[in-house]
Amino acid sequence: MVNKIVVLGSINLDSILKIERLPQAGETLSMLDKSSAPGGKGANQAVAAARAGGANTAFIGRIGKDDAGDILKNTLQKEKIDVSQLVVDSTHGTGQAYILLQATTGQNSILVYGGANQCLTGDDVKAAQSLIKAADFLICQFETPIDVTIQAFTYAHQLGVKTILNPAPAVKTLPAELLAVTDLICPNETEAQALTGIAITNQDSMQQAAASFARQGCPRTIITVGDRGAYVSDQQQNLEQFVAAFKVKAVDTTAAGDTFIGALTASLQPDFSDLVEATTFANRASSLAVQKLGAQPSIPTLEQVQAALNRG
Ligand code: RIB
Repeated sequence: MVNKIVVLGSINLDSILKIERLPQAGETLSMLDKSSAPGGKGANQAVAAARAGGANTAFIGRIGKDDAGDILKNTLQKEKIDVSQLVVDSTHGTGQAYILLQATTGQNSILVYGGANQCLTGDDVKAAQSLIKAADFLICQFETPIDVTIQAFTYAHQLGVKTILNPAPAVKTLPAELLAVTDLICPNETEAQALTGIAITNQDSMQQAAASFARQGCPRTIITVGDRGAYVSDQQQNLEQFVAAFKVKAVDTTAAGDTFIGALTASLQPDFSDLVEATTFANRASSLAVQKLGAQPSIPTLEQVQAALNRG
């Protein structure tokens, strides 16, 4: 069975600025190269879910009335993602991200112009209610207004639609009502530390962070820790396990986390019974994403992930 997945979130046009190293204050550096690609955490997660799990993915978001918006919408349509609730905003331009990609390590630093993403409203959620109602999973991040995420999650949760929160980019506090309607929170180590105040240094600290999220009402946590893998905790199944990453050479880590979340959700049972297996699948998908340049161009298909898993 193919999961029905709705992603509510951001959609950006990424400018990828390839550099040797980050400039210091007052310094001017030449870039090694520059290019652009479709991105945005929400759109990346929708593309990852669609490529890893078939066509049953829908995206709720906002673009501007501009060329970038048209390009990004076409990209989603080519992936057979339902864009019926992708609204064209008349006041702000399409979101843009500037990715400083360090050539030697593949690490990135990102500057984001939210633009139309920040204009998403509660009325957009209301207009998308029939999409959310029919879904198995609803995924949100923090590049769109948090009150809109709370509204969407509250609606989904009361209908039994499973909610997955990627708290990225990092914030220091979460409104209490959000974790109470979140079925799975999936931060990276920086985000987990920002939210809990616990330094994520080893499995004990990950367990403490997961316990903190559980006390606040969210029973499941996955903490991704880059090229080391992901820590999985489900208080309802009494499950706690570290799932190691696949070792590869990264050329660009942009959208590795987004690929993880989309692929995880595509392969996950809606009752979360295969959380560890889905995490292995998601680890494999993100290990492929980091080997290619750009956000959405780097996201693998189901066939590519399966072939890589068969290779071991
Ligand atoms: O997670 C990667 C994404 O973050 C990029 O595609 C960029 O658009 C920013 O939203």
